[in-house]
Amino acid sequence: MIDEMTTVLEPRPLSDFVETKYVKDITNRALSYIKAGFPVHLRGPSGTGKTTLAMHLASKIERPVVMIHGDEEFATSDLVGGEHGYRIRKVVDRFISRVLKTEEDMVKRWVDNRLTVACKYGFTLIYDEFTRSRPEANNILLSILQEKMMDLPVGRGGEEPYLKVDPDFTAIFTSNPEEYAGVHRSQDALRDRMITMDLDHFDYDTELAITQAKSKLSRQDSQIIVNIVRGLRESGKCEFAPTVRGCIMIAKTLKAQKLTPSKSSSRFMQMCQDILASETSRVGSKTNQDRVKQIVRELVAKELGIGKTINTPDVVEEDGIAAGVVDRNIVKIEKDKKESLIEI
Ligand SMILES: Nc1ncnc2c1ncn2[C@@H]1O[C@H](COP(=O)(O)OP(=O)(O)O)[C@@H](O)[C@H]1O
Ligand SMILES: [Mg+2]
Repeated sequence: MIDEMTTVLEPRPLSDFVETKYVKDITNRALSYIKAGFPVHLRGPSGTGKTTLAMHLASKIERPVVMIHGDEEFATSDLVGGEHGYRIRKVVDRFISRVLKTEEDMVKRWVDNRLTVACKYGFTLIYDEFTRSRPEANNILLSILQEKMMDLPVGRGGEEPYLKVDPDFTAIFTSNPEEYAGVHRSQDALRDRMITMDLDHFDYDTELAITQAKSKLSRQDSQIIVNIVRGLRESGKCEFAPTVRGCIMIAKTLKAQKLTPSKSSSRFMQMCQDILASETSRVGSKTNQDRVKQIVRELVAKELGIGKTINTPDVVEEDGIAAGVVDRNIVKIEKDKKESLIEI
């Protein structure tokens, strides 16, 4: 018996998604490759919009989405499926909703995982940071992308030893070439089967529009923040270049504190230093942090036109900084609508 236990996302346009010329251009190019039947691979440093763009592409494809995050610990069975022994079955009576019967059993059952489900039903697969998984785990993708066939392990039983990939199946990959720890070079054979689009940090208009959309701060104040972050990025003195995430964090904190850069310049300075030093250096790298703080100090002073005379307070209040959250609607696949399976 083959069960399916997976979470499928229903793609919806993101509420504060920004579509500038830059974003539209990449989207259209990627969609043209997808329509021609090729998997697309968005490659770029952190904060260049890869995951958001992958979700956006998926919403344009208008098929349910299965998302996988690359993981060093992954084995092929995490993608394809495996035998799971113990499970509780909750049987909800459709007519008498108060009746809830719980059955437990120890029978080994094959449970299809996300990749199998996506191939079988022609869903869109987003494999985020796929190079974090070990190449052996990803090997299964070779025949899926090339021959449109998925080899199924013997344990699955019952059906054919392979699964024909549904023609609607689409794969979108992302990876970050800058990450070395725990990241395997994407195998050449796999990379040959996808079209790689290299993404860089956003252009000025997009970075500004995203900062504004995410924080609801005024255009003028958003501009100040974006100028500072871009100035720091262009200085080339950071261990890691600051990203649009830094802009969003500063802007959201300002908004939450009801502050403006010009009216509360010293708090603003402190905030920029804290957020940008933390975003651009490794834990414990004090020399780098001090260098970044000095550059930020000069950039803030220049933006606010106030010289280098700002005193920074020792303590700054911190507020909840929400990272960009993707709007998603979670839908469970259930083979039999009457029962839902809970795996433990
Ligand atoms: N087109 C866009 N519209 C609105 N916000 C965006 C857009 N692209 C990226 N973002 C925001 O920018 C940040 C970084 O994007 P993300 O997709 O996470 O980058 P990456 O996956 O490359 O690290 C997130 O907070 C995300 O919500
Ligand atoms: Mg990402």
